[in-house]
Amino acid sequence: MRFVLPKGRLLKGSLEILRKAGYDIRKPGERRLIERVGNYEVLLARAFDVPVYVEYGIDVGISGSDVVEERGSDVLIPLELPFGKCRLSLAMPKESVVDPEEMDGYRIATKYPGITRRFFEGLDVEVEILKLHGSIELAPKIGIADAIVDIVETGTTLRANGLLEVEKIMDVSALLLVNRIAQKTKFEEINELVFSIKEVIENGF
Ligand code: PRP
Repeated sequence: MRFVLPKGRLLKGSLEILRKAGYDIRKPGERRLIERVGNYEVLLARAFDVPVYVEYGIDVGISGSDVVEERGSDVLIPLELPFGKCRLSLAMPKESVVDPEEMDGYRIATKYPGITRRFFEGLDVEVEILKLHGSIELAPKIGIADAIVDIVETGTTLRANGLLEVEKIMDVSALLLVNRIAQKTKFEEINELVFSIKEVIENGF
């Protein structure tokens, strides 16, 4: 079976839950992106690419629900996992807060252009979206955007940059992803994996 795991903040929880579920998987070394252990192969990918790898053929992956929603990937999601809990929110400089309904013509910096577009379309508000790849909080701080849509976990980054959370767009959690074809061709292995992880969660992971 082949697993694809996200580099970054979800990696630790991903390795931990799989090991507790009985899968002796090892993290690929610093620069190696694939590690083979027995019957398992573990790939490390950028968080935003994990659902894409699963959709196009890797059996199993772990990814944030934010990324799955943004990518719109066609994958199966048998389980929500008990880590990576945060939210995706709209935030603005605290001295210029307005309601989202009043943001016509505003420029929004984000790693999530799809979710942001759909959110504002739902409000019938037309905004300009500035797609960035990280350190989103910089954009309003230096004046190249009016607001951001980004992940909030503790709120520390927002506070440190003088930003206020205006509205939560979605709750975020890590998810177990399964390739549609693998679910059929590796039915028993996948079922066993899902069952074992479920047990770990029920025992208070
Ligand atoms: C995420 C997010 C925020 C921060 C939120 O950044 O984009 O910057 O964490 O966490 P907090 O509410 O606990 O402060 P990440 O570290 O993933 O880096 P990047 O977005 O700059 O790539």
